[in-house]
Amino acid sequence: MTESARVTESAAAVLREMRWWDIDPVLELERRLFPEDAWSRGMFWSELAHARGPQATRRYLVAEQGGRIVGYAGLVASGDQGDVQTIAVAGEYWGSGLGSRLLTELLRAATAFECAEVMLECRVDNVRAQKLYERFGFEPIGFRRGYYQPGNVDALVMRLTDPSASVPGTDRGTENNHA
Ligand SMILES: CC(C)(COP(=O)(O)OP(=O)(O)OC[C@H]1O[C@@H](n2cnc3c(N)ncnc32)[C@H](O)[C@@H]1OP(=O)(O)O)[C@@H](O)C(=O)NCCC(=O)NCCS
Repeated sequence: MTESARVTESAAAVLREMRWWDIDPVLELERRLFPEDAWSRGMFWSELAHARGPQATRRYLVAEQGGRIVGYAGLVASGDQGDVQTIAVAGEYWGSGLGSRLLTELLRAATAFECAEVMLECRVDNVRAQKLYERFGFEPIGFRRGYYQPGNVDALVMRLTDPSASVPGTDRGTENNHA
């Protein structure tokens, strides 16, 4: 299989904590997937600085397969609110269930942080991502006008109440959710 061939099953990808040495390959994916508003190296460093220890407020993950980073995601918890900061999957893995696995882990983290709700912003034209979030129970609650610059694209704000209910394997989880 060539590197760009479509991958239909994500089971072989391993999800693990993102570490500083992952930043370079993550940045490469970030620039490919978010060409207009990619995060900088410094932004990832600063997020990871809050991801360890008893005071940690962040959970960042990568998906790795065959030594290659093929996806990543991050969540910040502030008080009893979680925010999905980012979620991304290499193009050839789209539709493989990897986005669902990453989002499941973020919601597991939100549950561990005791978040009562999880928020996120998504470009209004990113229907694929919105469908993923809706399957997990996120609901649209409003817009942020011109949130994405350059381009002046609006963000759809979505909210999930009680993230623990969307995570399989928890007391209240169901098996039919993913993302
Ligand atoms: C949004 C994104 C993370 C989704 O990742 P993904 O890996 O494609 O997500 P999933 O595979 O879990 O789900 C997507 C689709 O695959 C389907 N799918 C899930 N598991 C599957 C499997 N095992 N086999 C085949 N298809 C599957 C889902 O039903 C879903 O289909 P639908 O969109 O028609 O309902 C990815 O498209 C991406 O990185 N986009 C660019 C960055 C981005 O926009 N990030 C979000 C910013 S708000």
